[in-house]
Amino acid sequence: MSHNPKPSRRDRQGASNRSDGVVRGGDVNEPVVELKAVPLWLVVLLGVLFYWAQLHLDHNAAGFQARVYGSFDSFAQVDSLQPKSDTEALLARGKVVYEQACGVCHQPTGLGSQSPLAPPLAGSEWVNTPGPGRMIRIALYGLQGEISVKGEMYNAAMPGGVGESLSDADLAAAISYIRQAWGNKASLVSPQQIKAVKEKMAGHPQWTAEDLLQFPADE
Ligand code: HEC
Repeated sequence: MSHNPKPSRRDRQGASNRSDGVVRGGDVNEPVVELKAVPLWLVVLLGVLFYWAQLHLDHNAAGFQARVYGSFDSFAQVDSLQPKSDTEALLARGKVVYEQACGVCHQPTGLGSQSPLAPPLAGSEWVNTPGPGRMIRIALYGLQGEISVKGEMYNAAMPGGVGESLSDADLAAAISYIRQAWGNKASLVSPQQIKAVKEKMAGHPQWTAEDLLQFPADE
C-alpha cells in the first residue's frame, strides 16, 4: 500500500489508533527543527535602525550631558526645585525670557558688559523706580545717546523692538525678574501694564534718557 503523501489529521489519528497496532502514514510531514541563517537584509535593517535610534536619542537628549542627566539625587530634591507660588513661577519664567532676550547684552549676571557695550541692570536707578513705566518703555522701543547709570556715563544704543517681539506676559515676567534679581527691589509688572504702554506709545522711536525723565518715576 502506498503512503498517502499528505494524510489528513483524521487519517493519522486513525492510523495510530488502529487496533492491530500497525502505525501507518509515517511522519514525513512532522515539523523539523533546522538552523537557517538570518537574512542579510534583516541584519542590515536592524543595524540602520539602531544607528538612527542612537542619533535620535543623542539629538533629543542633550547629548546625555551631566547637566541634564543625573543632576537630581532624589524626588525630594526635584520637589524642592519646583516653584512654590505664582510669584516664584513668574520669576522663573522671567529669568528664562531675560536670559534669551536681554542677557546677551546685559549678561545673565545683570552686570552689563563692555562688548557689546551695555550698562548694568543690577542696582540701576532706571530699573529700581517705584513704577515700571520707564523700564517698559526702554524694553519696548530701545534707547540711544548718553545715559548715566550708577554714576557712569554710557553712550551706546539699545535697539528698539527687543521687547516688542515678546508676548505681553513674557515681557512682564522678564521685567518682573529684572526688578527682583541681583539685589534689585522693585514691584512686579503685569501684562496689562505692558499692554497699556504699547497702546499709548505704539511705533515710538528709540528713547533718549532725557525723554524718559519726562515721565514720573512712579508711573
Ligand atoms: C543688543 C544689546 C541689548 C539688548 C538685547 C538689550 N539691551 Fe538694554 N541696553 C543696551 C544698551 C547699549 C543700553 C544703553 C543705551 C545708551 O547708551 O543709550 C541699554 C540700556 C538699558 C536700560 C537702561 C540703563 C540701565 O542699565 O539700567 C534698561 C533698563 C535696559 N536696557 C533694559 C533691557 C531689557 C529689559 C532688555 C530685554 C527685553 C534689554 N535691555 C535688551 C543694550 C541691550
